[in-house]
Amino acid sequence: MKIVDDVYTKFTKLFNEQPHLVRSPGRVNLIGEHTDYNMGFVLPAAIDKAIYFAITPRSDEKCMLHALDLNDSVDFHISNYEPSKKQWPNYLIGVVDQLKRAGHNIKGFNCVFGGDIPIGAGLSSSAALEAGLAFALNHIFNLGIDKLSLVKLAQKSENEFVGVQCGIMDQFINIFGKDENVLRIDCRSLAYEYFPFDFKNVSIILFDTKVSHSLASSEYNKRRSECTEGVEQIKEKFPEVTSLRDVSIEMLEKFKNELTSVIFNRCKYVVEENDRLHNACRALSNHDLKSFGSLMFQTHLGLSKEYEVSCEELDYLVELTKEIPQVYGSRMMGGGFGGCTINLVDNDAVEEISDMILKKCKTKFGGDGEVYMIKISNGTEII
Ligand code: GLA
Repeated sequence: MKIVDDVYTKFTKLFNEQPHLVRSPGRVNLIGEHTDYNMGFVLPAAIDKAIYFAITPRSDEKCMLHALDLNDSVDFHISNYEPSKKQWPNYLIGVVDQLKRAGHNIKGFNCVFGGDIPIGAGLSSSAALEAGLAFALNHIFNLGIDKLSLVKLAQKSENEFVGVQCGIMDQFINIFGKDENVLRIDCRSLAYEYFPFDFKNVSIILFDTKVSHSLASSEYNKRRSECTEGVEQIKEKFPEVTSLRDVSIEMLEKFKNELTSVIFNRCKYVVEENDRLHNACRALSNHDLKSFGSLMFQTHLGLSKEYEVSCEELDYLVELTKEIPQVYGSRMMGGGFGGCTINLVDNDAVEEISDMILKKCKTKFGGDGEVYMIKISNGTEII
């Protein structure tokens, strides 16, 4: 495969030795958006777009990183580093930082990476960097860290080093993803269950708005604190509530006049989204894609009107698909404010619908959108 070959070739040119190769995928999320940090449920899958790492341990304490796609290098000393002024190195330095904090004995390393996960498209290239490097370092230094601890470590590095208070979904699916399966994760207990996603006649299509979600991290942290604010007030009457996971719609209705309309709407979306996810899993087990898809449309409406993390371009893309019978479901995906919509589309109609959508978007917004046909794949692995 071209990208792995390029990563490998660059590595051998730079370091003149044989590397270990690790593949770390992006992800989609079928339903359950902005529920992970509310201790609810999510239904993601790892995909066939990935970052590839070529890596070897060093005997000294130097860490040499090369980002092939950016043709940019950074190096730092394993015990003497600070956040980089550039963005990309921080996803990786943060992982080293967490490993050190957890007391793991690592030395320096040489690393080249590159991939085809579009950046800023909401496919979680950041978690692919974090969890991929954590996995790779665990492997080359024989650290013996179990999968779940790798997930937590990668998430913590994003929370503490990059400064985004993300939930656990992206890093979790990156490590636990399985070919042809979506994964329901209970983000409180971290129990999980695979559901086969084996609809031979249906494709998962992503329409990329190419609107880079620059607002995403600040607004993301804001949504998180709005949810916490809601929980704090609900707790005063229902002390057993520790997160929105514990709140039912009936319970929430009692706070209609006490919560501001913004906080009420944020909470309402999350509470309903958890219910939708359970209905979606039932629909999946019954092979009922129609019901599954209609839940996706409902999710989009909630994300757009109540949670307010959509944007004009995403809303337009979803709107376009609504009247097309070969589209089962469509919604914005990930943190929001740009990036992609995820669509379940009959194989036979993919080309025609994609062409139509790209054309209409160009007419309305001027810029070129992009279509990705993705396949569900394994999580991070040695190749
Ligand atoms: C980002 C975060 C995830 C999750 C989604 C929204 O991808 O990294 O933890 O909160 O947004 O569902």
